[in-house]
Amino acid sequence: MTVLLTGIGELVTNDPAADDLLGLVEDAALVVDGRQVAWVGRAADAPAADERVDLGGRAVLPGFVDSHSHLVFAGDRAQEFAARMSGTPYAAGGIRTTVAATRAATDEQLTSHVARLVEEMRRQGTTTVEIKSGYGLTVHDEARALAVARQFTEETTFLGAHVVPAEHADDPAAYVDLVTGPMLEAAAPHARWIDAFCERGAFDADQARAVLLAGEAAGLRGRLHANQLGPGPGVRLAAELGLAAVDHCTYLEDADVDALRDSGTIATLLPGVEFSTRQPYPSGRRLIDAGVRVALASDCNPGSCFTSSVPFCVALAVREMGMTPAEAVHAATYRGAEALDRHDVGALVPGRRADLVVLDAPSHVHLAYRPGVPLVAQTWVAGRAL
Ligand code: NIG
Ligand code: FE
Repeated sequence: MTVLLTGIGELVTNDPAADDLLGLVEDAALVVDGRQVAWVGRAADAPAADERVDLGGRAVLPGFVDSHSHLVFAGDRAQEFAARMSGTPYAAGGIRTTVAATRAATDEQLTSHVARLVEEMRRQGTTTVEIKSGYGLTVHDEARALAVARQFTEETTFLGAHVVPAEHADDPAAYVDLVTGPMLEAAAPHARWIDAFCERGAFDADQARAVLLAGEAAGLRGRLHANQLGPGPGVRLAAELGLAAVDHCTYLEDADVDALRDSGTIATLLPGVEFSTRQPYPSGRRLIDAGVRVALASDCNPGSCFTSSVPFCVALAVREMGMTPAEAVHAATYRGAEALDRHDVGALVPGRRADLVVLDAPSHVHLAYRPGVPLVAQTWVAGRAL
């Protein structure tokens, strides 16, 4: 069955062949055939279809591709956030609080919590989401976190190397052996990606490298948390290993920027984290001007950033990180898809999945111009309005 969406005031196609970054089409229409986009162009040129929906001048853009989240958790760290707002700095150790709560939760509790958060994301226009483990940190609890995540997305990431859990605090090397051995073996069937937190207080570059290489040998692809709390070797490690993406990139030296440009590894910026930890925002402008591909994601998690809203991240990127509204929207859609090595989402061109957002606004600029306003009127996944 085909559906013609017409009356689109502004269509963001992200067509890489277009002259402008977003491949904008005004007074546009789009035809959905089953799960895919079949045609895009000017409304006046649209072909006939089985059904017709008039969007009354609203803007349509590709669904957001949120390439970084930690949704499988239990418990709440609102008090830790409140303390930060009165001056207590963020530290990686807070992760252990969530680990204890997550281990104590039942499978049903974890599943229904993830379902709620994914639904919250959908309402805000996210159509593809990556979900990490990392709050179980035992063989059983990491495998079950990934099995829970798999019910919601193909983009699951094994993050056993999130932090060294309390019971291994005396022997981090033994914990890395566990992560690269039995834990990886139990996790791999449920995961597409492997990740590590390369940071002071978590894992150093040698440990992160060992984890990523073991994951690769088990058939998983690497991504990395790096340079979040201070400068460090993580970004250069990600570039050296040719990872798809390295995430946070809050503290970058010139050599890091050069390494990103030369390797093609995507820098995924997570401005909700800087908002929620009162850290300085990284400059998206500096990276884009240097020729680095920049993605934006939520990092939704109970500690450093508990927002599920990509529109909020777009607004922050524009206001605080020197990105234009077009660059921020592109980073949250097309680049997000690239960061997950996905070529079937992130753009509205024939052949891609019909994942789209209808905004109650005439253009994509309103996402930053009207921050905090729930502008997402409809979210479509694989050709169906949710
Ligand atoms: O991406 N950086 C490491 N992990 C998460 C935070 C986890 C937490 O504080 O619970 C992040 O920011
Ligand atoms: Fe994260």
